[in-house]
Amino acid sequence: MNTQAYSTWLEVDLGAIKHNIKLIKKMTGTKLMAVIKANGYGHGVMAVAKAAEEAGADWLGVARMEEALNLRNAGIATEIMVLGYTPAVLIPEAVQHQIHVAIYDIEMAQAYAASARNSAGVLKAHLKVETGMGRLGMDPELALNFLSNRKNLTNIEIDGIFTHFARADEPVIDKTREQLCIFNHLLGELRSLGLCPEMIHAANSAAVINFPEAYFDMVRPGIAIFGLDPSPDTPLSSSFRKALTWKARLTSVRTLPPGHGVSYGSVYVTSKEERIGVIPVGYGDGYRRVDGQQVLVDGSYVDVVGRVCMDQCMLQLDDLPNARPGDEVVLLGEQAGQAITAGDLAERWGTLNYEVVCGLADRLPRVYFES
Ligand SMILES: Cc1ncc(COP(=O)(O)O)c(C=O)c1O
Repeated sequence: MNTQAYSTWLEVDLGAIKHNIKLIKKMTGTKLMAVIKANGYGHGVMAVAKAAEEAGADWLGVARMEEALNLRNAGIATEIMVLGYTPAVLIPEAVQHQIHVAIYDIEMAQAYAASARNSAGVLKAHLKVETGMGRLGMDPELALNFLSNRKNLTNIEIDGIFTHFARADEPVIDKTREQLCIFNHLLGELRSLGLCPEMIHAANSAAVINFPEAYFDMVRPGIAIFGLDPSPDTPLSSSFRKALTWKARLTSVRTLPPGHGVSYGSVYVTSKEERIGVIPVGYGDGYRRVDGQQVLVDGSYVDVVGRVCMDQCMLQLDDLPNARPGDEVVLLGEQAGQAITAGDLAERWGTLNYEVVCGLADRLPRVYFES
């Protein structure tokens, strides 16, 4: 791995991602849609997509058609599904590139059918059912009606049906049970009428861990394939492996005199002679402008001091007299047996590990390896 040209970069272990995908497939015994939206949860979508394909992911899930088209244009041949909204004008491209869309509204389905007819092709779609998420989804009665009358919708093949859980990562299980009950009831009715689409799916990462009864034909994990916990209440087992490390190099180490302000606003002022290091990482990279953060230098936790700038932040290095420009700093990941997790950063930032990794800026070089 050659990182000499970089001052800050992400190291992504594709071996860990492949391992996690294989592990989930073994756990569930079902097909698996690797959800790799938002630039593969920040890990870099192209490399992640290829790794997922190699690990045996049966489908790839993204949020938007642009993401799906990028994957197709890069030669990704696995089934792809857009889980979110697709504008009707993009349906010809969906047809041409064999990308599945989500249908959750009757008027939308009619517009899609017209668009597919005009492009003389068949659009493949999965019907998304509202069971309690309150986001995108067709109410079960409408879904029943819709599938009963779908013969009017030529040029659309609905070969799947799915729903999404709102609280599968929480210790309270009633809500997910209720969602499953609503979904299963609809599936029962559809089966009795011979109308049930072939492929049924519901489980995100949390449900993969907490709700085996939600596995159906396919599971749709995102966060777990990167080795990250769905929530503090639903940690992954130690068999999962984390894929991401965020590193930087010290670009300056200086001794500042007592009473010297550090960074914008001089909110940090040296109380004595202090060794202050600089790393080329800031909020322009997705590192938050909050107080009380730490990074790892030479296997020790050191404080980030002063305000985080757009491209840089400062470290208090008094305890590390040997730290030199060029030394590696870890912002997220492990160094010499110590670790800072996405969960740790999330706690400090008042958010989720999901937002930490999805917020990693595009300008950060991603360096891939397989352990
Ligand atoms: C519809 C859908 N399915 C699956 C996932 C994957 O969720 P997770 O990353 O929690 O596994 C998401 C992510 O938000 C989603 O929106």
